Order: sequence, then C-alpha cells, then structure tokens
Amino acid sequence: MAELTAVLASTHHPFYYKATTSPPDERPPYAGDWQRKVEAYRETLIAADPDILVMVGADHFHQLWLDNYPQFLIGQAEQYDATFYNEEREFGIPKFLLQGDVDFSRYMHQELMNQEFDLAVSHELKIDHSIICPIITVRPEADLPVVPIYTNIFVPPLPSPKRFYELGRAIRRVIDSYPTEKKVVAIGTGHLSLELGGPRQFGEHGPDPLFDADAIEWLSTGNAEAILANVTHESMSGVGNATHGFMDLLLMMGIAGEGEHADYVDQLDLFHTREMYITWYPYKNQKQAEAATAAAEVSDASTGPIYANDAVWDQFREEKQESEQGTGADALSAVGEGSER
Ligand SMILES: [Fe+2]
Repeated sequence: MAELTAVLASTHHPFYYKATTSPPDERPPYAGDWQRKVEAYRETLIAADPDILVMVGADHFHQLWLDNYPQFLIGQAEQYDATFYNEEREFGIPKFLLQGDVDFSRYMHQELMNQEFDLAVSHELKIDHSIICPIITVRPEADLPVVPIYTNIFVPPLPSPKRFYELGRAIRRVIDSYPTEKKVVAIGTGHLSLELGGPRQFGEHGPDPLFDADAIEWLSTGNAEAILANVTHESMSGVGNATHGFMDLLLMMGIAGEGEHADYVDQLDLFHTREMYITWYPYKNQKQAEAATAAAEVSDASTGPIYANDAVWDQFREEKQESEQGTGADALSAVGEGSER
C-alpha cells in the first residue's frame, strides 16, 4: 500500500517568487527572512522522499466562475499547465507543466465517491497559484506527478468546515489503501485570517493575529473539536473577508488525523498577512525527525505545536486590549460631546 510520508499545510503567497528572485536592491526588506524560512520548510518535504504529490488548492476564478464552481473537483489529466496570464503579469510567476498521475486520480475519484464525496472531475484542468505557490516553495524542481484537488472557498454557499475536515479524513483513507509501493505526500495551501480589498487590507499585520494564534494551535495539535466548535463561515468573515481559505488548512489537518501533533511549525508576520508552514510525519522516522530539527534551527521554527498562550502572541493581546480600551474611551467621549450639543 502507499505510504503517506508527510502532510504539509501552509499559507500561499503569490508574491514570494518575485520577492525572492528580484535583484537584491529591488527586494522587499522582509524577503531574506521569508526565503530562509521557506527554504528550511522545503527540507521537511525532502526528508519525506515523495514519489507522488496529492495537492489541495482552490481556483481563484481563473478557470471556474460563478456559473459553474464545483464544491470539490479532482483533476484527472496526463499533464497540467500552470500559471494564468494575470499571475505572470502581476506576480511574475513563471509557467509550469506538471505531470499528472491518471491512475491515482481515477482511484482517488472512485474511492472518494464510495465514501459519499461526489467530486466533479476535470480532464483539462489548468493549475493556478494555489498549487503552483507550494511547488515554487517546497518542490521548485516541479518533477513529481500530482493529483490536484480543488475546493470551493470562494463562491457561496460554501461547504461547511466539517465537510472540509471530513474530506481530509476520506482522502487519508484513500491514500492509505492505494495499492502501490510509492511514497505519497499531501500538500495543501490556504490562509489564516486574510483581508483582500476592504478596510483591513495591507495593515501592519494580518487582520486578526489572535485568530491566527488560535488557528495555529488548533492545526498543530490536530484539535478538530475546537475548530469545529469555534469556526463557522460567519466567524471567518469576521476575522477577514478572505479567511475561508482556512478550510483548506483544516482539510489538510484531516489528512494528518485528529489529535496528531505537527512535527514542524513555523510562522512569519508579513505586515499584511501571516505566513504559516506546518509538516506532519505520520510515520516519523529518524531521518525526518533530524531534518525537522535541523530545519527548525535555521528558521527559528518549532518541532511541535505552537500554542495560543505562547509569549510570541503577547504583543497582539496587548494591542487588542489597548484598542478595545481606546474604542471604549472614544465611544464615551463621543456620547459626552453629543450630549453637550
Ligand atoms: Fe491565493
């Protein structure tokens, strides 16, 4: 049977390629730190020695549109072109041609159907940056066959968080039962709190660092119960208008399994959004443990969960307290002024 040697869940950021390949004097000030962390994260995939990648992402209205947007879709092609014109123009992302694995895609499709997940299928899927970003960050050689799975995080009505989690559980069972000697790695990207357009875009940090703190704890401890109790479509909208991509991270946690502690957890505050890089090794061996430790030393990452009450989040708790007190004082003085008129 296939061996699932790693599960990677991370945010994706289309500016990474340009930020780290531009001439040094044109790079943003945070590019060096970002590259160091991404290249360390890449080592955690190398240690999993993958033969096939199951990749989870979401089409950003490149190929799917409001009139035809499947909740879940699997690619079943020999090859996948990647990168759309606007992604080249705006982000400088190069074109790619990824090899498919039609046999595995067919097997995945049928077995997910058998578990009551009726995915749409595409024989001519073109991949966008939700899948190319992690190729660029963790497998820039782009030399492995992929089984792409797309989810709907954009067009309401969206599937529930529970449905995403359960799909992850189902994908795990399919990988575990696939008759092959090959090693499989599942890689999926999404978002923590995120605002695209709207008043909170391009703030000093992501729109809700305290949601991010909870999210990273929940994901890195495999705490499905807490996520399903606390995260709804409405609550995600409240912490940033594009936060629904968090459900793809939840799906990846489903593949790793309930209660599974992550073996590598890193995060980076990129002024307007928070990056997160998590790896689970379901059957961790010594090589993988050593790789995670070595990578964590380079990137200042953790080789276990990061908890919401860790000191790293203190400044954001204080900021929130101050802003709440400030808002309260402002509101009181506004009432006072009003009453004088
Ligand atoms: Fe995106």
